[in-house]
Amino acid sequence: PSLEKEFLPMYFGWFLSKRSSENLRKAGQAFLDELGSLKAFKKESKYFASAIEDPKVKVDLTSYFVKRPPGVLHCTTKYTEFGKAAGAEEYAQQEVVKASYGKGFTLAVSALFITTKTVGARVELSEQQLLLWPGDADKILPADNLPKGSRAHITLGCANGIEAVQTGLDLLEFVKLEKAGNKGDEVGEIGGGKLLYFDNGMWMLVLSKKIDVKAIFSGYYG
Ligand code: 2AM
Repeated sequence: PSLEKEFLPMYFGWFLSKRSSENLRKAGQAFLDELGSLKAFKKESKYFASAIEDPKVKVDLTSYFVKRPPGVLHCTTKYTEFGKAAGAEEYAQQEVVKASYGKGFTLAVSALFITTKTVGARVELSEQQLLLWPGDADKILPADNLPKGSRAHITLGCANGIEAVQTGLDLLEFVKLEKAGNKGDEVGEIGGGKLLYFDNGMWMLVLSKKIDVKAIFSGYYG
């Protein structure tokens, strides 16, 4: 018998290598720079009012998304809140979670997106990676029924006053629109891929070539 209850992390997830983190940050930065100087974006920039210096010149999205994750980037699988979150123990006890702990993976980033609250990278999980995805994550409302892994993302930044948990909820909003048949307005090709606008300050860059990032599945203890 064990003497103490197993201590669970704040969250489980894939932690990107330093090099992959730098690559993805750079891609995100390039996206914000290009978007901020795009005519079509400036026309819709009222949603990012605090970032507008001179609307003719450029919208400074880098300073708008002022809260950026320190250190290496990650893709949260299960937020366990040190064991307090619903389903935390059940998640941690799964064989696949134990067997994958400390193992290396390659994640595919398929798109970059911004809303008025967050900037993030959309992650397309493989069948094997989906085994590590919790059953309860892909919902905003309890009645939502979206494909498993819909929420998979890497937070790149948040606007002032916004917590990182919002990035996944924002991605789910895009997925809900897609599911409802809204494919977004094709604004055109920009560096890296096809730019889509979904109104209300929701922009998505669908990458023409997915960005592969190397990551270790592990837990974060704070
Ligand atoms: P993120 O995965 O969107 O970046 C620590 O707070 C990390 O856990 C953050 O990276 C955050 O968001 C994620 N997180 C915080 N609260 C969460 C929640 N309730 N559900 C899922 N992920 C959460």
